[in-house]
Amino acid sequence: MFKTRLRRAAIFAVIGFMLGIGLGLFSVLNPAPVARVVEKPSRALDTIAAVKVGGSFTLLDHTGKQVSEADYAGSYKLVFFGFTFCPAVCPTELQKMTRVMAELGPMADKIQPIFITVDPERDTVEAMGEYVSNFHPRLVGLTGSRAQIDDVLQKYRVFASKVEMPSGGDDYMMDHSAFMYLMGSEQDGDLISIYRSADSVSMIADDLKKRL
Ligand code: NI
Repeated sequence: MFKTRLRRAAIFAVIGFMLGIGLGLFSVLNPAPVARVVEKPSRALDTIAAVKVGGSFTLLDHTGKQVSEADYAGSYKLVFFGFTFCPAVCPTELQKMTRVMAELGPMADKIQPIFITVDPERDTVEAMGEYVSNFHPRLVGLTGSRAQIDDVLQKYRVFASKVEMPSGGDDYMMDHSAFMYLMGSEQDGDLISIYRSADSVSMIADDLKKRL
């Protein structure tokens, strides 16, 4: 049993490493730091602006309450998509989100941090409740049915795909895009900015200070 667990840990490590290389490659291929993109809109942002990002949703928060975009109207939204089993990227990014909020001081009151799962089968309300308690005290975790999650993934242009484990069984990982979205304070607030995993806490906080 111990051996199986060890093997599983090794497989997760390898996949985590591969995802890391993928993200690294992505960063290399997209070297413009977000702060520059923000000051002088680049081709990437133009493309994003041409496509609507975000929109209405009906999901369950981590306390089991049904919520929609209307529940967060009046706040800017920092939205991150991921899954609670994620070994590295999601915890790192959610930690970063927490530190960004701390760095903003009272200005952070204008922001509602939101974590939306790409893996609703495993990320039940209970799993989300336990997970979000590791991060910012106001972080909201959202899950829902497969159809509800697929709808919000599509609206936010989030890529997410299941990666089966070579060991078989029920284990799987989710390969997913790992951007942090800043959404406007209106109910159907538009996308204001996108932050990448390569962006530091201070880069993101500085950008937010200019925009809030
Ligand atoms: Ni992740």
